[in-house]
Amino acid sequence: MPYGDVRDRLLELPCQHGGTGYVTLDLFPPRFEIARALARRRARETGESVWRVFEFGALYGACLCSLCLGIHAAGGVVETVGWHDNETHTPGSNEACGENVRAVAPDAEIVTLRDLRPAGRVWADFDVVAVDGDHTYWGCYRDLRDALLMSPVAILVDDTVAIADVARAVADFLADHPEIEATHVRTVNGLCVLDPQPHGPDRLRYLLEDCPSVEIVDPVGALA
Ligand SMILES: C[S@@+](CC[C@H](N)C(=O)[O-])C[C@H]1O[C@@H](n2cnc3c(N)ncnc32)[C@H](O)[C@@H]1O
Repeated sequence: MPYGDVRDRLLELPCQHGGTGYVTLDLFPPRFEIARALARRRARETGESVWRVFEFGALYGACLCSLCLGIHAAGGVVETVGWHDNETHTPGSNEACGENVRAVAPDAEIVTLRDLRPAGRVWADFDVVAVDGDHTYWGCYRDLRDALLMSPVAILVDDTVAIADVARAVADFLADHPEIEATHVRTVNGLCVLDPQPHGPDRLRYLLEDCPSVEIVDPVGALA
């Protein structure tokens, strides 16, 4: 039964984590729509269409692929896909992630933190950074801090409802960076969208209005 959204594409990926059930969760349509809305906004405002995406904790790359597909849906070009995953979850997942990313973005440069560090490209710039790796308090806080160094236009944090330590790390990170705007979006695990370069009130809210399946839950209150 087709879903009529990005999940149909994710089900076609060559490597599936834990069978086909995982990519049918409600985690991925919001990511696709947010990436598409970001790419549409940038194209409208600056005419620029080239994107670099990164994730802390990529597993088989379902989130990265959703972001790439969202950017493509807005006519954008994914130039670089990067991630860091220590494979504590699934040995061999980096290889599977590479295969999946190549299936949706065959022309993109693929990099991991191991490639970037010796090349002096840490912290290279990435436009969208997803945080879904180490779900401890300090692991999440560290990934958020490192994500900010990549100068992204958006940071997406998973599990802000499902995992209390992640919720606390995000709330504390936002308290330490009051310039960052944040909005909490409803998914089964919770998703927080951070705008580190806000250019005016409600810009994030306008962005999310361009995402039909995204339901905004009020921001930091929901995390505290
Ligand atoms: C929930 S899974 C990520 C799911 C993924 N975002 C997706 O789209 O399907 C978490 C991943 O983070 C990785 N991980 C856990 N702790 C880590 C750490 N300290 N550094 C890097 N990766 C880590 C795990 O190996 C696992 O693949």
